[in-house]
Amino acid sequence: MVDALLRRRLLFVAGKGGTGKSTLAAALALLAARRNKRVLCIEIDAKGSLPACLGSGPVGFEPRVVQPNISCLSMHAEESLQEYLRLYFKVPRFTRMTPLARVFEFVATGVPGTKDMLIVGKIAYEEKRRDGERPHWDIIIVDSEATGHVLPQLNAARAMMDLAKGGIIRSQTVWIDEMLADPERTALTICALPEEMPAVEAIELHDRARTETRIAIGACFLNRTFPQLVTARSVRTLESAASAEHLDEARKRLGGDPAGVVVGAQLALRLADASAKYSRRLREQMTCPVLEVPVQAGVRSGLAITRQVATALEQTA
Ligand SMILES: Nc1ncnc2c1ncn2[C@@H]1O[C@H](COP(=O)(O)OP(=O)(O)OP(=O)(O)O)[C@@H](O)[C@H]1O
Ligand SMILES: [Mg+2]
Repeated sequence: MVDALLRRRLLFVAGKGGTGKSTLAAALALLAARRNKRVLCIEIDAKGSLPACLGSGPVGFEPRVVQPNISCLSMHAEESLQEYLRLYFKVPRFTRMTPLARVFEFVATGVPGTKDMLIVGKIAYEEKRRDGERPHWDIIIVDSEATGHVLPQLNAARAMMDLAKGGIIRSQTVWIDEMLADPERTALTICALPEEMPAVEAIELHDRARTETRIAIGACFLNRTFPQLVTARSVRTLESAASAEHLDEARKRLGGDPAGVVVGAQLALRLADASAKYSRRLREQMTCPVLEVPVQAGVRSGLAITRQVATALEQTA
């Protein structure tokens, strides 16, 4: 399943805040790099969490190598405009940005979709880079902003096509829109958690992406699932063994109070039930495969957790 995703040239990882977008984008990057692909990771919100997931400090607008075969860049709409002007209209790169920054703010706030178009334009520019015949990047993985922003970005080229009826802008936007709509080249992936709001938002994003954009939905990651470690029956047995009636015996056998063990088992049961419930719900309501990514308990953050999530992803059927 992961191989099918990694065959694409461009993957967007989207979903509600905190669902694991940066971690999963980084884990996909590691898996692609392991397959000897040259990977570019793009962080849209410039928070620095994507490079952190790959064991690096913050990165800028120019791609920087963060792991073998993996480079990372942080998106910046204003720098993107500068690059655009430099490439297509031969405007030199400004050292003093102030006047251009003002013009930029004016245009970007006045013309709807300008910032989105610059973001998508930069992604497309990187996709198009070539070393001779060969693409400069084999795969580009985009850590998207929270749900609200991703749809306008995916539609920015189409919206721009309606504005620009001819010329260089028109031909670029047509090309970008075709790339995004090509299921062989591009896919959207959606992150969810086994909790109500993240799951609802994931389904909503799935439905809206299907009706409002032309992008293919490659997979939904149900992240931080909990394994079925105990059964309802074993929890009942444990509860009864620790009940007032048998408490002395239980204390003796455990060498302490059994309450913590009981609560642990009850919690494990509840978390596993929630994982199963949301997994079912997402599978029923989504047209794409749902890949479960188990919660990683041993490590906290950074590259260590990304590595574990990558290994877990590889193992999901
Ligand atoms: N499978 C997992 N097991 C345990 N912890 C996880 C797992 N996936 C992600 N995390 C942790 O959950 C937190 C949120 O993950 P992450 O930053 O990737 O989410 P995000 O969707 O990118 O958040 P934001 O919307 O703030 O950008 C991080 O601390 C991350 O290390
Ligand atoms: Mg993030």
